[in-house]
Amino acid sequence: MKSIKDINFKGRKVLLRVDFNVPMDDQKRITDDTRMRESLPTIEKLLADGASIIIMAHFGRPKKGGFEPELSLLPVAQYLEKLIGRPVLFTQALLGSGEPEQMARSLQPGQVMLLENIRFYPEETKGGQELARQLANLGDCYINDAFGAAHREHSSTAVIARFFPKDKYFGFLMEHEVNNLEKLMKNAPRPFTAIIGGSKVSSKIGILENLIDKVDNIVIIGGMRYTFTKALGGQIGNSICEDDKLDLARELMKRMDDKGVHYYLPSDSVIADNFDNNANTQVVPAGAVPSGWESMDIGPETCKMLYDVIMGSKTILWNGPAGVFELPSFAKGTREIANYVAKACSQGCFAAVGGGDSVAAVKQMGLADKMSYVSTGGGAMLEYLEGKELPGIKAIKD
Ligand code: 3PG
Repeated sequence: MKSIKDINFKGRKVLLRVDFNVPMDDQKRITDDTRMRESLPTIEKLLADGASIIIMAHFGRPKKGGFEPELSLLPVAQYLEKLIGRPVLFTQALLGSGEPEQMARSLQPGQVMLLENIRFYPEETKGGQELARQLANLGDCYINDAFGAAHREHSSTAVIARFFPKDKYFGFLMEHEVNNLEKLMKNAPRPFTAIIGGSKVSSKIGILENLIDKVDNIVIIGGMRYTFTKALGGQIGNSICEDDKLDLARELMKRMDDKGVHYYLPSDSVIADNFDNNANTQVVPAGAVPSGWESMDIGPETCKMLYDVIMGSKTILWNGPAGVFELPSFAKGTREIANYVAKACSQGCFAAVGGGDSVAAVKQMGLADKMSYVSTGGGAMLEYLEGKELPGIKAIKD
């Protein structure tokens, strides 16, 4: 796979798929522009070469079929202008009206245009060939920099690549994600520790099953660990639990034992008498949560244990918070993990962080640049870690 760094795109009209599905507040202000910033190296390289760029992106999950003002990419176009310091041509008119087609036709080297939310076309999420063909007709080569949408087999993320069998590439963001994930899943220095959290075992089964064959240690934190604690006979009070997954939890623990994978469950918990930042709290041994109380975070003993496991690792994958991170009183465990992982990285460990809350934690603490790699993909990273082939990656590699 040729890297775009070795190619000169001078005079080319590049179709660039990005993931600008960024969070916005109710005033349509972008509250986290990471995904946009991470695509800037690709955009800047193309502009420096003297290419023109037709950017394709989605926003949210439009349902109506056609234009929906609240899901327009207009605020993204305006924000992108500030980031790249030049105009971004944009029209809310859709393909078929002739307006975006005309804009694309008259695009000059050094100009950038953004198509309106690609999901306004219902064919997009169905992977429609005709839409892919319409899009392909606008440019003369295709670059996919949308790692966050790489698990979607959509017209603009995968199908379009078929129209450019010799002229399709990963952008820098995509290349970076793929290289790091491949390092993680294929060549990870040992010991390799996976720290997996989040509220539900059911959403992490695929990852746990895939990782059992690849790692030395698995640390299970977050709400999902109470399903394991209960499966072992512990008292979990009102803590979150999937009762229909108790057998699965036992089976996963047996598989980890059989494979010689060390698994770690928290030994103590910070519990609360209410799901509230100002609730009464106490620290109790895990598996001894009284009824009427629920576990909200890992306790200090668990933090000590995690410090040793993390500092003894050469590779770390962290996906999912340790507790109810969004309530400041219960964010300590997640923050401690972020600190330990940053320290391990400063001593040569390779650490990858992915998943909404764990990424939010490292960003909030200003530690994102202390990690070896922070993924821009939510669902895409999860599916990659489950061992699935992502259509957006496959379409470029084939
Ligand atoms: C994301 O935000 O994870 C990606 O942009 C994919 O969005 P989707 O889950 O709506 O396909």
